Amino acid sequence: MARITSFEQYQSEYKKSVENPEAFWEEIANEFSWKKKWDKVLDWNFEKPEINWFIGGKLNITENCLDRHLEKRADQVAFHFEPNDPNENSRAITYRQLYEDVCRFANVLKSKGIKKGDRVCLYMPMIPELAIAVLACARIGAIHSVVFAGFSATSLGGRIQDMHCCAVVTTDGAYRGAKPIPIKAVVDDALDVCPSVENVIVYKRTGEEIKMIDGRDTWWQDEMKKVSAECPAEIMDSEDTLFILYTSGSTGQPKGVVHTCGGYMVYTKYTFENVFQYNDKEVFWCTADIGWITGHSYIVYGPLLAGATSVMFEGVPTFPDAGRFWQVIDKYKVNIFYTAPTAIRALQASGLDFVNLYKLNSLRILGTVGEPINEEAWEWYHKNIGKGNCPIVDTWWQTETGGILISPIAGITKTKPGFATLPLPGVQPVLVDEKGNVIEGNNVEGNLCIKFPWPSIIRTTYGNHERCRTTYFTTYENLYFTGDGCRRDEDGYYRITGRVDDVMNVSGHRIGTAEVESAINMHFDIVESAVVGYPHDIKGQGIYAYVISTKEHDDIEMLKKEILAEVTKIIGPIAKPDKIQVVRGLPKTRSGKIMRRILRKIAEGEISNLGDTSTLLDPSVVDEIVKGRV
Ligand code: WT7
Repeated sequence: MARITSFEQYQSEYKKSVENPEAFWEEIANEFSWKKKWDKVLDWNFEKPEINWFIGGKLNITENCLDRHLEKRADQVAFHFEPNDPNENSRAITYRQLYEDVCRFANVLKSKGIKKGDRVCLYMPMIPELAIAVLACARIGAIHSVVFAGFSATSLGGRIQDMHCCAVVTTDGAYRGAKPIPIKAVVDDALDVCPSVENVIVYKRTGEEIKMIDGRDTWWQDEMKKVSAECPAEIMDSEDTLFILYTSGSTGQPKGVVHTCGGYMVYTKYTFENVFQYNDKEVFWCTADIGWITGHSYIVYGPLLAGATSVMFEGVPTFPDAGRFWQVIDKYKVNIFYTAPTAIRALQASGLDFVNLYKLNSLRILGTVGEPINEEAWEWYHKNIGKGNCPIVDTWWQTETGGILISPIAGITKTKPGFATLPLPGVQPVLVDEKGNVIEGNNVEGNLCIKFPWPSIIRTTYGNHERCRTTYFTTYENLYFTGDGCRRDEDGYYRITGRVDDVMNVSGHRIGTAEVESAINMHFDIVESAVVGYPHDIKGQGIYAYVISTKEHDDIEMLKKEILAEVTKIIGPIAKPDKIQVVRGLPKTRSGKIMRRILRKIAEGEISNLGDTSTLLDPSVVDEIVKGRV
């Protein structure tokens, strides 16, 4: 049995997983249903990189999420859907209903000629049909790529082009907070530059007026009536691609992280069951959006593989008021609640009155993910939401890792505020210094790397394997580099200190500084810009943009508004700078490299100690920038 029930057992499992990883994972993989078992557990090479798990194994992940549960759990709720508007009826979807809808939608996809290996883009709000579409793709072996429905038409179009998608699944509009948001119109814009897309399937959610293009667009609800509720699962190889999910890096445009069927399946279920200590009949709620990896692994795949009951929430934490999360917890008697530090801080700032209206006595375990959690937010969460008796799991992981890597095991690992604590079995973290020397011992700090593959490690970046190699595997020889800085304290506990590269973490959203810069530079008057993150009370990090304009502007506020509009158009509202400073020049070295270290310090307000500026081409720009701080 793969379930850890004591700290001693964690230690012995950990030991086993390091001494004999193949035997360890094989035992866990044996608990799944495979069409054919693997010939070999693992083959790996971090230099190329080439990583293969459960080699030769044949499976379909949806059979493990759905078919396998029909015997015992057919009438058990898989998803409680809580709509944005608390006055709209909620929906409870059982495992049987989910199975049937997935099969039906899989047949709809097939009827459009979509087949194994084809890429299907899903641009949808948080409704059950998004999970159904994800699973329907997996059912027929099509590769799903969910794009968060807050991204702009330009971002969406770029991704669809990068993947050569043949179809898009979307909705007419979305309900998120107070006013409806157009969705289909964004897709229409995006598709202007995407000739590969032959089919757009539209789920009617808001009923708003939209354009439907003959021969390309069809309604989900109509198509579902035409097909059968049985669809045999496509036989997939362990290493066939399951999905592509785009994520930002320190340079260039976002890259498509590729995850494959076998390893991802084994790892997400294992970590879901162990980290959250999920018990049969409990209700789990992860507040993430399926547009991010957290939603893929801990709303869709992990919980369904484990046969769990989850809440799926369409709305936002503050609508109709800041008590919404707590109201939903009471409504469904949620036992395990998993959210982001940014939400916790925002709700903390809204005051305890909203919390005190609710009982919250069903809660047993709390989780956090996405960014470092400050001690104050951790204590507030623990005391006011968990009432002092719910263990908090601070789970560290990434889009590239597929599942949680460093985290307490709920109720079993002793926690410390701000610490992700210890690696899960199968995970071998190391800290390295700038030169790549491994830092041994405790009470040390360095760059976080992982030295051995776990089953759901990134396999490639879609369409550009070299990019995967250079981003993750060449910084330090034979190590996977996470991009995070990390401290290991006197107890060997890990504390993630944040990104050490040019990636920002804004409200738990990962945004590359280079991406924002190139969006800003699209403004006609901007010649150059430099973007850095700075500490922000609620968002964790805010975005600070230094921009150089080609001409004098009488109305700087107008220019700033236009820049915000440009960024919204190119990326989406999540990437809008919080602060924009118009500058005459940027601090550059003689070789023309922008010294971001200085810009970061200025944005942080640390102007008394800017370090050595003597290597700058023109040190006087620094004084000017400091004077003009916003
Ligand atoms: C980056 C990955 C996978 C979860 C959603 C984010 C930061 C994530 C933690 C945590 C401190 C964290 C890291 C990481 N991060 N979880 N518990 N404590 N930092 O996935 O968008 O791929 O971002 O989020 O900096 O590298 P992502």
